[in-house]
Amino acid sequence: MRTCVLTGSNGGMGRAICAEMRRSGYRVVGLDRAGSAAGKPEEQPDRFIACDLSDMDDVRRALDALRDEAGIVTLVNCAGLYEKKGVFELTLDDLDRVLAVNLRAPFLLSQELARRMVAAGTGGSIVNIASINGKLGSPIIPYGTSKAGLIGLTRSMAKTLAPHGIRVNAIAPGTIDTPMAADVDATQMERQMYSVAMGRVGRPVEIATVVRFLAGDDSSYMTGSVVDVAGGWMS
Ligand SMILES: NC(=O)c1ccc[n+]([C@@H]2O[C@H](COP(=O)([O-])OP(=O)(O)OC[C@H]3O[C@@H](n4cnc5c(N)ncnc54)[C@H](O)[C@@H]3O)[C@@H](O)[C@H]2O)c1
Repeated sequence: MRTCVLTGSNGGMGRAICAEMRRSGYRVVGLDRAGSAAGKPEEQPDRFIACDLSDMDDVRRALDALRDEAGIVTLVNCAGLYEKKGVFELTLDDLDRVLAVNLRAPFLLSQELARRMVAAGTGGSIVNIASINGKLGSPIIPYGTSKAGLIGLTRSMAKTLAPHGIRVNAIAPGTIDTPMAADVDATQMERQMYSVAMGRVGRPVEIATVVRFLAGDDSSYMTGSVVDVAGGWMS
C-alpha cells in the first residue's frame, strides 16, 4: 500500500488532490485544522488527523500519530494561508504566522517523513504547493516571501535527498478556483487575468493531476523542479 500524507486536505485544492491520489490507488492521510472537509466522499481522506500547522508541537503530535502508518512514500505540502495587510501595517507576528504554516511546517514534515522513508528503504516523493507569487513576487508580502522560501526549500531538499532516492518538486499554481481565490476582489481578479495567457482561472483538478504525476514514477527523473500550472501567467 502506498500512503500519501496530504496537508490542507480540507481545502479546495486539497480535496481535489485527495480524490486524484485515491483514484490512483494511494491511501491518503489528511492533515488540516479540526473539522471535516465539505464535498464528495472521494474527496475525503482515508484517515484524518486534526493538526494546527502553525503550532510546531501540534505538528510533532501529528508526526507521532503517523508512526503507525506503514508505506508513507508521498508527502504533499498543500496547506497554506495569507495575510492581506499592507507593507506598513504588517507585524512580525503576521509574518511569523504565515511562515509557520507555509514554510516551517513543510520543512518539519519533510525532514521527519524523509527520515522514515530512508529508514524503510522505500524512497519517496515530496510535492510542495508553492505559488506563481513565489516566483514573481506579491504585494501580500508574507505570502510571496513564504512561497519563495518554499521554492528554495524544494530545491535545497532535492539536492540533499536525491542520494536517498527521495525526489522533491514544487508546483507554482496561478489563480485556482478555491475558497482562497474567492477572497480576491473582482477588480483585482480582472487585472490578474490580463497577465494570464489563457485568460481564465484554473480548476483544482488541474493541480491535482500534476501532483499525481510528480508523486509517481512517471516523473522519475524530476527533482528540484518548479512546475508552473498557471495558464501562461509569466510576468
Ligand atoms: N487558490 C489559489 O489561487 C492558489 C494559488 C497559488 C497557490 N495556492 C496554494 O495552494 C494551497 C491550497 O490552497 P487552496 O487554494 O486550496 O486554499 P484553501 O483555503 O481552500 O485551503 C487551504 C487549506 O489550508 C489549511 N490551513 C491553513 N492554515 C492551517 C493551519 N494553521 N493548520 C492546518 N491547516 C491549515 C486550511 O484549513 C485549508 O483547508 C495553498 O498552499 C495556497 O497557498 C493557491
